[in-house]
Amino acid sequence: MNKPLMTIAVDGPVSAGKSTLSDALARRLNILHLDSGAMYRAVGLYALRNGISPDDEAALNQVIDKGQAQVTVDYRDGQQITLLNGRDVTGELRGEAVGAAASAVSRFPAVRQYLVSLQQQLARERSILMDGRDIGTVVLPEAGVKIFLTASPEDRALRRYTQLIADGFNVDYPTVLKDLQARDEQDSKRAADPLRAAEDAVVLDTSSFSFEQSLQAMLDIVEQVYGSH
Ligand code: DC
Repeated sequence: MNKPLMTIAVDGPVSAGKSTLSDALARRLNILHLDSGAMYRAVGLYALRNGISPDDEAALNQVIDKGQAQVTVDYRDGQQITLLNGRDVTGELRGEAVGAAASAVSRFPAVRQYLVSLQQQLARERSILMDGRDIGTVVLPEAGVKIFLTASPEDRALRRYTQLIADGFNVDYPTVLKDLQARDEQDSKRAADPLRAAEDAVVLDTSSFSFEQSLQAMLDIVEQVYGSH
């Protein structure tokens, strides 16, 4: 008998560990992982590259309307590749400038509608784990499992700082914390699909958890719904 399709939504604020934990969990479950933030980052990158202010809603509406920032997603050895107008930009999406641009462009309904419909298409007729801000509330409201991952701002800032240093970025902790609080504010206060836990999401605070403990906690939540894997 075929196994039922699994639909898993993972939401939470910046640097809650969504991407890495989602990646590890999807591998354990042997299902596709879509990092939806990478798609917003690709649109943010388009704005930065083309001299468009990420705050200029009218200009971004035009970009979306004219299909000038085509975002596509592909998989290579199970790893997500994000393309902007057919070119692989995966390696250019991390970093603070692109993250801030992504947070800014993601406020605009036209950008959201474009990306949400792509995300919903990707989730059609396959098992998928999608991580983002509005997956459990807007993109996949019927998801079988919804997890809202969070941790204190200080813990998240420390993780982010450590990651950025490891990636070779020259940053300091107080600035990382300040930027993270600004991102939290922007992501949760925007009018269009703000960051919030779905009513039926399990909220998982990983402040005092190791990576392995967080992963196990997520796996336990999934197994309660879909059985063991
Ligand atoms: O998860 P991330 O840091 O890569 O996301 C970058 C920005 O994109 C984030 O600040 C908010 C936005 N985003 C969103 O609005 N909805 C999503 N589903 C994913 C990301």
